[in-house]
Amino acid sequence: MTQALPYARLVGSGSFLPPRLVSNDALAADLATRQIETSDEWIVERTGIRQRYLADKGMATSALATEAARRALADAGVEASELDLIIVATSTPDFVFPSTACLVQANLGNKGAAAFDVQAVCSGFVYGLTTADSFIRAGRAKCALVIGAEVFSSILDWNDRATCVLFGDGAGAVVLKASESPGIIEAELHADGSQMNILCAAGNVAFGQVTGDPFLRMDGQAVFKQAVTVLDRSARSVVEKAGLQLSDVDWLIPHQANLRILTFLARKLEIPTEKVVVTVDRHANTSAASIPLALDVARRDGRIKPGHLALLQGVGGGFTWGSVLLRL
Ligand SMILES: CC(C)(COP(=O)(O)OP(=O)(O)OC[C@H]1O[C@@H](n2cnc3c(N)ncnc32)[C@H](O)[C@@H]1OP(=O)(O)O)[C@@H](O)C(=O)NCCC(=O)NCCS
Repeated sequence: MTQALPYARLVGSGSFLPPRLVSNDALAADLATRQIETSDEWIVERTGIRQRYLADKGMATSALATEAARRALADAGVEASELDLIIVATSTPDFVFPSTACLVQANLGNKGAAAFDVQAVCSGFVYGLTTADSFIRAGRAKCALVIGAEVFSSILDWNDRATCVLFGDGAGAVVLKASESPGIIEAELHADGSQMNILCAAGNVAFGQVTGDPFLRMDGQAVFKQAVTVLDRSARSVVEKAGLQLSDVDWLIPHQANLRILTFLARKLEIPTEKVVVTVDRHANTSAASIPLALDVARRDGRIKPGHLALLQGVGGGFTWGSVLLRL
């Protein structure tokens, strides 16, 4: 076991979107060919989503994850060989096994790091980040790569207009290093499996057959209510545990599910909307990838600066949720 340092510090980030940009109008026109009616107006009004990026057939989660990881490593000035922990948060892995993390490891040319996937749907990135933080604080890792990556389009029922307009594909990654200074200050994770049915893709592969329903199904209104409630509670709790105030938070970076959820949450928390990083309009909901994508966008456009305090919040199927308070 290595000497434990007290903090996991973010030293780099990167992200990657597949090249195929699909506007609401283009999606509506495509759905219309199958007599499914939707419109840019409905989608923007109910969700704030204007477009999404979709992976072409054959572009797997590991490919998106690897590109985001390369960009994060370059940003951090870290070689892949320095990594001793690789975590990929995804609900759309390339295979049943090996894990997507092992595929990314091979693509990057790293040998020997621990590599595994975390499955907590849209909370996956905060679950992965908290896991990496725990490894680093315990002295079991010194340099970790945490990725959120999804090809969510592959599990959508493109005949269900209530869900297929909401999601997109993409990947985001961060590099964490053991450090004397913060770093991740506080984190908390939660789940309530009794609410599994409000958001699920309840299929599986067994004996060479797909059984159950492999597509995402959602009770949109139940998810909306639950998301706002748990994010509000968790934000207050994690900030209090850190001995800080919500007014100390420079950037709120919630899972990018829906602009209405983000706006509602910010209002409840009395965080000005200018302090909320919003990418759902451009990326749609990319599940585990949405938080690192948003974080990377706001770091690269210069909004998030060293020393700023960011509150990252995930919520999604399971039902799962969690928060990470991060000093940049
Ligand atoms: C999904 C969501 C946008 C739906 O909005 P809503 O206001 O609850 O809408 P409803 O489901 O009540 O549907 C209202 C009407 O719009 C219709 N509708 C649904 N999807 C539509 C679409 N893409 N285009 C046009 N009309 C649509 C419904 O059929 C319904 O029609 P009806 O009144 O004739 O029955 C909203 O519930 C939501 O954002 N939920 C949270 C989802 C989420 O973020 N999930 C991921 C969390 S990780």
